[in-house]
Amino acid sequence: MTFARIAGTGGYLPERVLTNKDLEKMVETTDEWIQERSGIKRRHIAADNETTSDMAVAAGRKAIEAAGIETGAIDLIIVATTTPDKVFPSTACIVQRRLDIAKTPAFDVHAACSGFLYALDIANRFIVTGGATNALVIGSETYSRILDWTDRSTCVLFGDGAGAVVLSTSDEAGIISTHIHSEGKHEELLHVPAGISSGYADVQREAAFIQMKGNEVFKKAVNTLGSIARETLEGNNLSQKDLTWLVPHQANLRIIKAAAKKLGMPMERVIVTVDEHANTSSASVPLALDVAVRDGRIKRGDMLLFEAFGAGFTWGSALVRY
Ligand code: UT7
Repeated sequence: MTFARIAGTGGYLPERVLTNKDLEKMVETTDEWIQERSGIKRRHIAADNETTSDMAVAAGRKAIEAAGIETGAIDLIIVATTTPDKVFPSTACIVQRRLDIAKTPAFDVHAACSGFLYALDIANRFIVTGGATNALVIGSETYSRILDWTDRSTCVLFGDGAGAVVLSTSDEAGIISTHIHSEGKHEELLHVPAGISSGYADVQREAAFIQMKGNEVFKKAVNTLGSIARETLEGNNLSQKDLTWLVPHQANLRIIKAAAKKLGMPMERVIVTVDEHANTSSASVPLALDVAVRDGRIKRGDMLLFEAFGAGFTWGSALVRY
């Protein structure tokens, strides 16, 4: 039996940092409000000429280097993003060209903040069925381009960045199980109304930006993350005590704390980057993973639970022996 394991991780954050104090000069908000309601202190913002593929390539290169393989050994590329460089081709194809990888399957996955967990689920299936040996799985987002910088209820919450992993074949289970779900009826609680087939060429200004009923999303996120964690542990006959680290989607520190509490997981065993990165959507879980791998908190053999929730609604989890 062939399994998949995480052979290497990588991350990239744009150089420019936007603090809450900076935001105080842009909209009617305060550092205190943002920290108290979301836990966010600062976020990274892409340079004017920096794109989702630029960040994806940077994170991808680091993950390949950490995996200790040649770029040419990658035989599958999946990019989770809702902020692609172009309508087409896919960001994954652009990444493939820029990494000079020949003729591998390369495609994007669109599942908003849960995108990385969807991409991981798909890459794992490729590997266990013999369809790939080294998959490059990336979450990369430039949310600064879909934020209304005059809307204080959304612009303070998001940031840009990319995170990546190389999934490789293994005799032992690294990816123990993956779980993905969606419930499309909540479409209008969190969306960017503009789209290709719905008035793209003459889009109204506000339709081009994130619109969110924050309070309703918050409640649903806490409950759903609680249930996906339960589903994952019960499905593997494990309990919270078997986990070394929870690596949650980084949208709001209050959501992370509430979900950890439901799981009975002390905050000392939860990876938190939302204070420094804000919500980077599909990049948030792989970025948090990469930060904790590189600072030595997450070690080989640790049992990890990834979880994410986002627009759609979509949600997902993965139980991982790192
Ligand atoms: O990745 C998945 C997607 N996103 C999420 O998971 C985010 C989910 N939601 C949240 O994180 C929280 O709901 C927010 C951080 C967005 C908001 O926190 P909240 O405690 O739910 O606040 P609220 O929406 O109930 O708003 C409270 C007040 C409102 O004023 P009134 O109506 O009570 O007078 C807002 O107008 O805070 C006001 N407000 C602000 N005040 C200062 C909203 N944004 C700001 C702001 N600065 N930036």
